[in-house]
Amino acid sequence: MQTDLHIKLEHIADGLAERGYAIVDSFLSDLEVDLILQTDEFKNGKLHFKKAGIGKQQDKQINASIRGDYIQWLDPSIAPACIGIYFDRLRQLIQYVNQNLYLSLKNAEVHMTIYPVGSFYKRHLDQFKSDNHRKLSIICYLNHAWREEHGGQLRMHLPEGPLDVYPLAGRLVCFRSDQIEHEVLPAARDRLSLTGWIVDRMH
Ligand code: OGA
Ligand code: MN
Repeated sequence: MQTDLHIKLEHIADGLAERGYAIVDSFLSDLEVDLILQTDEFKNGKLHFKKAGIGKQQDKQINASIRGDYIQWLDPSIAPACIGIYFDRLRQLIQYVNQNLYLSLKNAEVHMTIYPVGSFYKRHLDQFKSDNHRKLSIICYLNHAWREEHGGQLRMHLPEGPLDVYPLAGRLVCFRSDQIEHEVLPAARDRLSLTGWIVDRMH
């Protein structure tokens, strides 16, 4: 019998194969999202997260004009159990995609992310010219009761035109890091997510 997770993994693999991206709702349940939001890491996030940079670019002003999010990388070996569940699910995703799309993806690298009200990330590609290990970009959103008027869409620039995705709690977006240019539009609420990449190396 097919489990709920397998149906979602199948949908992700099909989307990646056919279009280079996939969107699946309820990848995390409402309860799983709540537990993650209640971790000390996220509750104190605004105090402790670091301003995200761009590649090796150190100029803070240039950074701020391109992206305004705050991040904290996660170490799966010491992460709280509720975040461990998310890493387990990503491991299953890696295994499924490897088997079905004949890839050799190895590992997930994930950070917690907060976009404070009004912040954004200008149009970009996730694969750096100097580092092509990022194969899939994977973002899981953590925002209950998000409405369109809050903004904060992920806008993917596809060959057929832009596609907007709202950052609804539990929703997972997955796309090919080397192919899909995208941006984050400013939001009227703080916008929280787990942002990660599936890479083809262990560390
Ligand atoms: C990123 C990014 C998209 C999003 O962190 O590189 O593009 O929807 N995030 O948060
Ligand atoms: Mn990106």
